[in-house]
Amino acid sequence: MPKVTFPQEFVWGCATASYQIEGAWDEDGKGESIWDRFCHTTDKVRDGDTGDVACDHYHRYREDVALMKELGLHSYRFSISWPRIFPDGKGAVNQQGLDFYSRLVDELLAAGITPFPTLYHWDLPQALQDEGGWANRETAQHFADYAATVVDHLGDRVKRWLIFNEPWVFTILAYMAGVHPPALRDGATALRATHVVNLAQGLAARAMRATGKVDALGSAFSMSGVYPASESEEDKAAAERSFRFTNLWFLEPVQNGRYPDAYVGGTDPARFGVQPGDMELVQAPLDFIGINLYTRNVVAYDSQDRNLGARQVAVPDVERTDFNWEVYPEALHDVIARIWEDYQLPIYITENGCSYGDGPDERGVVDDQRRISFYQRYLAQVARAIEGGADVRGYFAWSLMDNFEWTMGYSQRFGLVHVDYPTQQRIVKQSGYWYRDAIAANGFEY
Ligand code: NOJ
Repeated sequence: MPKVTFPQEFVWGCATASYQIEGAWDEDGKGESIWDRFCHTTDKVRDGDTGDVACDHYHRYREDVALMKELGLHSYRFSISWPRIFPDGKGAVNQQGLDFYSRLVDELLAAGITPFPTLYHWDLPQALQDEGGWANRETAQHFADYAATVVDHLGDRVKRWLIFNEPWVFTILAYMAGVHPPALRDGATALRATHVVNLAQGLAARAMRATGKVDALGSAFSMSGVYPASESEEDKAAAERSFRFTNLWFLEPVQNGRYPDAYVGGTDPARFGVQPGDMELVQAPLDFIGINLYTRNVVAYDSQDRNLGARQVAVPDVERTDFNWEVYPEALHDVIARIWEDYQLPIYITENGCSYGDGPDERGVVDDQRRISFYQRYLAQVARAIEGGADVRGYFAWSLMDNFEWTMGYSQRFGLVHVDYPTQQRIVKQSGYWYRDAIAANGFEY
């Protein structure tokens, strides 16, 4: 039985996001978000689900923090809902919104759990979407103002912050692929939106640091292992371009003030709406890198694709989660090793986890052995990367509890804790108990 152990200071946590768990979508002065509007007015979310109630965490946060304490979490990664703080995205602050997060932070600290908030996990104020959302350059400055307001308010107790969650997803899936709000299919606008987000990241980092209250800043980037479909030079080059576009599009700008070289025939910044002086604003090196990783892509050269010259190849007969994502633990090691080698910054695994539909049996036990096995194998790869020299400081399981999985609604369950939505009853799954034991032992055998 292999034994897996972690460094003494290793941080064990769980992650969630505001829209996915809070509910209370229009309470205490909160403004409408793009996900409120999207769920209420389109048919793009499975079963017509919405985040109106979700896990009702807004009202049950004390119970949820008690659960975290029971699991022995060191830290809790949650996100702050921008429209709770600025109902119109800018202008007047909604004090009741700030008060909610202030109470949550106090509750966490009283339980001995370090708060690790993300400032943006996809719930843009609808009022800003009406002005163009992330395709409008002014959104960058509004975001920086919002970020500074929150840090100023909570920064006496919260020291470590994440700016964005998965900027690639909330730009490309929303403006290019038409999947997330505003559901556009417009490549040129999408690329401009990515640049506005990079501007926002740089401006926010400066504004947050200017409060004098921040110890460490990072962002959580969606990353994926990217592997060539064959050993041919063409496939390997295509995989490398794809790696850069998928994993580095928001990291290379903030660290080094440039876009990664991902496009066939070179990357022309004018294409993204880059204006003179922008790249200086975009560059604001982070203190650590957050990696969200679930699976891998296998990529082949594609002469028809004028952008990346690459296409994703389906991999047959592999292990998959109930979400149909391939289980490929080595990807976590490989991406950590590459990011460490290229950037030499501390790394947190800000998300990793799996969707399996197991529910309670007649005894009320959720025996989700596949999730335990998933965590064992991925965490073993984190330990392997650390042994190889990477400075990985912590790991956050996605997710603490089952929640609203975006366009899949409540049909996908990622939690260590099962949620029965009609009654809001929480049941710790067997994986949750396994995680508790792994935290207590700072490792495990499997
Ligand atoms: C990425 C996102 O950050 C999170 O919101 C989502 O629920 C999980 N991955 C699973 O898809």
